[in-house]
Amino acid sequence: MRTRIINIKTLYGLRPSSCLRLCGADMGKPYSLDNAWLTLRNGTVEDYGNMDTLPVDEHCDEVVDAHGGLVMPAFCDSHTHIVYAGSREHEWEDKVRGLSYEEVAKRGGGILNSADLLHQTSEYELYEQAMERLHEIMDKGTGCVEIKSGYGLNTEDELKMLRVIRRIAEASPIRVVSTFLGAHAVARNYLGRQNEYVDLVINEMLPAVASEKLADFVDVFCDKGFFTPEETDRMLNAAAKYGMKPKVHVDELASVGGMQVCIKNKAVSVDHLENMSANDIPALKASDTIPTLLPGTSFFSNMPYGKGRAMIDAGLAVAMASDYNPGSTPSGDMRFVMSLACMKMRLLPEEALNAVTINGAAAMCQSSTHGSIRRGERPGIIMTKPVPSLAFVPYAYTTPWIARTFF
Ligand code: NIG
Ligand code: FE
Repeated sequence: MRTRIINIKTLYGLRPSSCLRLCGADMGKPYSLDNAWLTLRNGTVEDYGNMDTLPVDEHCDEVVDAHGGLVMPAFCDSHTHIVYAGSREHEWEDKVRGLSYEEVAKRGGGILNSADLLHQTSEYELYEQAMERLHEIMDKGTGCVEIKSGYGLNTEDELKMLRVIRRIAEASPIRVVSTFLGAHAVARNYLGRQNEYVDLVINEMLPAVASEKLADFVDVFCDKGFFTPEETDRMLNAAAKYGMKPKVHVDELASVGGMQVCIKNKAVSVDHLENMSANDIPALKASDTIPTLLPGTSFFSNMPYGKGRAMIDAGLAVAMASDYNPGSTPSGDMRFVMSLACMKMRLLPEEALNAVTINGAAAMCQSSTHGSIRRGERPGIIMTKPVPSLAFVPYAYTTPWIARTFF
């Protein structure tokens, strides 16, 4: 099936194959071609060019006229928890009444609530619920996504979640990578015995996950009231023996030293960073670890926004992701993430686009194939309705400007 999109106002995401992330000032470059066409063969980018060089005699099964819309690589959402059971809107109501995230967690709500629900839900039902969310985010332009476990909190249920993620990966046309997050919270039956829970993660969960090759990455919720930097270090070390690279929740509720441990363990990404100290920017600069900001979480959970502007000004490669989960932000809308990145973190539109495409892909080790438009690759494509400029995209933050997606 050969599809050609013509009359594209601007085609974004054109980067050489050697370019695997964009740092600092490079995040502001558009990497674009005006007045363009693009040909896809079964979703794979075959060729593109200026309308002046449009091939005339070639057979196409479909010619799509963009009428001056933009074309860009699909979004790369490097941090989600979309495999979960049910929802937690009643907890959210408590938060509306004034309870903090930590207070909800202390009451036995939060993650433990989702773990109880997940325990009662069959693998098939969990798959059905998660697949609905996957289709929802695909409709909103996501073409590559990371999904975490972490609502099982015992070996059997963590494996159940990871098998669901694997089934999603097999069934969906978009790239799905998986992360083992057994250390998302201490399971109810281990409360007061956190050390033993960490041992369970290391001695039972990790080997089981590794033997079925169920996870590409490992994550830990390293934060005040959850896991300490020392515990995180132990778990990341153990996971490294199985080839699982770290992508870690740090500095969401407080800065407790998690970032240093992650950098030492060569984390692919450190995520959240709502309460990161600006003093930690040089340490990130000296590493290959990608700071991943989740502005939807700041919005929904009334937390500070990450220091996106300062990070880019310091030369870092910043990624933005949705964190779609039932507690801190039940949304996987990467268009809204872009808008928040601009409005609340002062990223410019090009920077926001690069943060949710190539740098998001880099935060999943997928940027050689995703997050850019390159011949021979299948990154997923977003075509917009006719819009005046790229800035309109994050500016018109509730307008449904996506005309069509190609996966
Ligand atoms: O990324 N911070 C830890 N985990 C999730 C929240 C999970 C939940 O509340 O269910 C997050 O915000
Ligand atoms: Fe998260």
